[in-house]
Amino acid sequence: MTIISPSLLACDFLNIESELKSFDGIKNLWFHLDIMDGHFVPNLTFGNPIIEQIVKKSGHKCDAHFMVTNPDFYNETLRTYGLHNFTFHFEAVLDPHSFALECKKNYPSVGVSIKPNTPTHKLSDELLSVIDLVLIMSVEPGFGGQSFMPLAYDKINELKTRRSKLGLNFQIQIDGGVTDKNSRDLINAGADNLVAGSYIFNASQDKYSEMIDLLRK
Ligand code: DX5
Ligand code: ZN
Repeated sequence: MTIISPSLLACDFLNIESELKSFDGIKNLWFHLDIMDGHFVPNLTFGNPIIEQIVKKSGHKCDAHFMVTNPDFYNETLRTYGLHNFTFHFEAVLDPHSFALECKKNYPSVGVSIKPNTPTHKLSDELLSVIDLVLIMSVEPGFGGQSFMPLAYDKINELKTRRSKLGLNFQIQIDGGVTDKNSRDLINAGADNLVAGSYIFNASQDKYSEMIDLLRK
């Protein structure tokens, strides 16, 4: 079943505990945490103290998406917090393969993310064979609520082909502008994991699980 990852960027942060609780009991759900540093992307979100609290309170696996210039700092400092997935940006590190190997020592799952202008052929076979997830950005990273860029479909195809040629089983995750209007096409194209922020959190809290069902339909 497709994993749905609500992006907490769009949640009500002053009521985060009740926001997290409203997803209790939903299967195949990860909480997606967007960490932005004001350098790699213009926007700024939250760092370690908040991540630690969210992981503690969440009844689901936590998926951290680091839109930062120094993911090595987070790799080192978050390793005891219980994060499930650690995704860094391909564009932020000099040697993504060696960095992914370092992250693998600390987290059960490691992802690499590519911005809309980064082609999939930049991801080497050796990198793909180390990571557990590729995050395809379908908007420019930095802000929620942007429109989906259809270039994600070609990237899904290319990665699916490489994955089967290489005999690998990394997840393909899509992030940005995901709604019930494109989720079926994305799942049919081969996406394993859909991140959705504003689509879910623009609904009232008692509707979150319905929104998740609509994304899977
Ligand atoms: C954008 C973030 C996304 C964002 C998605 O840089 O990586 O996770 O929260 O938000 P929506 O679903 O509103 O496009
Ligand atoms: Zn994200």
